[in-house]
Amino acid sequence: MSERTLLPAPGELPPLYPSRGFDQDPLGVMAEGHRQYGPVFRMMVDEADTVLVGTWAGLGELFVAERGRLEVLNTALVHDLFGRALFNLTGDGHAEARRRLRPALSARALPRYVPALLVVTGPVAAGWARQGVADLYLAAREVTHAMSARVLLGIHPADTDTGPFAADFGRFITATGAPPGERRFSDARYWAGRGARRRLHTLFTRRAVAARLGTDPGSALPGLVAAFEDAPKGVGPLADHLLALLIAARETTASLITWCLIELARHREYAGLAAAEAHGALADPRLLVRRDALPILRAVLAETQRLHSPNLLSVRETVCPVSLGGYRVPAGMRVAYSPSAGHLDPRVFPQPHAFRPGRFLVRQSPGARLRAFGGGAHACLGRPLAELMTLTALSCALHQGLPRLPSGPPDHIRYRPAKAPAAPVPFALDRQESAS
Ligand code: HEM
Repeated sequence: MSERTLLPAPGELPPLYPSRGFDQDPLGVMAEGHRQYGPVFRMMVDEADTVLVGTWAGLGELFVAERGRLEVLNTALVHDLFGRALFNLTGDGHAEARRRLRPALSARALPRYVPALLVVTGPVAAGWARQGVADLYLAAREVTHAMSARVLLGIHPADTDTGPFAADFGRFITATGAPPGERRFSDARYWAGRGARRRLHTLFTRRAVAARLGTDPGSALPGLVAAFEDAPKGVGPLADHLLALLIAARETTASLITWCLIELARHREYAGLAAAEAHGALADPRLLVRRDALPILRAVLAETQRLHSPNLLSVRETVCPVSLGGYRVPAGMRVAYSPSAGHLDPRVFPQPHAFRPGRFLVRQSPGARLRAFGGGAHACLGRPLAELMTLTALSCALHQGLPRLPSGPPDHIRYRPAKAPAAPVPFALDRQESAS
């Protein structure tokens, strides 16, 4: 079928693409939809009529139109479990909450977190090298959890809160799989999650009090507590935001770490070069937060974000009629954008399906033009921390040895909640003579 060339008539709804196989190959289905219908079209996603915006130009237009016209579409379950967390807020309350959360998560705050992250991650990577890993994604999730707990809550691996926190956090995550509507009330996972949420809030409050009195430079908590001390009610309680940060960090960062390691295992030429940088980073950890340092590792990070963007779709609802791509989208419609829109466009990235970190070595700020962290009013607040956690995990792993996939790369991939191998991928680090 030929590419769409006709302009939409004013007031027309975007065309409906009768797609099939979205769950198996969502990126392929969306690419075909855009090829046939242009930057904006409709498609059934999760059995709901959804306006899809998935090209570079379409995303720019969406983000400009967003404030006051589009709101994040969350289910009743998400509102119940997350309360007034950032992604459940709208308008001024949302903007003010972002303003208060940002400093502790910004690039400026990162140097303080580096030593703490290394203390958490170094021994984990040594264990990977010693014993191998049966399931790379599970291992990446565990190390992400430990790094997030350390930075966001000040919980060290040997802390007495580590076990109870992990258990209740696990129950809370399980509850997010309960039915999204009324049926949640008859689901045991929901009630277990509500109980876990209460206990987590108590734990957060206790740690916040301790953080205010103590001086832990390795944690964002003291800064967050100070930022929310005089906060108006509309911004929501810090405990709701902490739980949201922990959840937002979890699958996404683990996904990025996983795909970086898979690609390094498949491209030993880059792994060798990146390992040399990793040894340097562990000798001088300040390099981990210098944007002009570690060019190979940063190029691998950027190319992995491009080729393996963790998030598939972000969903909104129109609160008033909006014009997108020349179409008129009425109030009350579901609109979704794909953060990776444009990452596979051959006009922007030649040979888009190939892993070629070299394409980011010639650009000054690798990855700056990528959209893996979204954009607009709800753009990811955790990007600096997510990138630091990933670089730290990669450096610690490469310092131990070169990545290898004893059973080969994954055959099947799932795309939600974040892009990940559908089955366990065994992983090993082959020690090199130069590594200590
Ligand atoms: C590789 C890791 C990550 C990726 C790919 C990622 C991606 C994204 C994307 C695409 C969005 C926008 C969602 C939307 O438009 O509705 C988002 C929002 C958000 N992210 Fe991340 N994220 C990552 C890690 C993190 C981390 C580590 C944190 C916190 C420590 C974090 C905190 C948030 C928060 C709070 C929001 C909601 C912002 C708002 O609603 O205003 N993320 N993230």
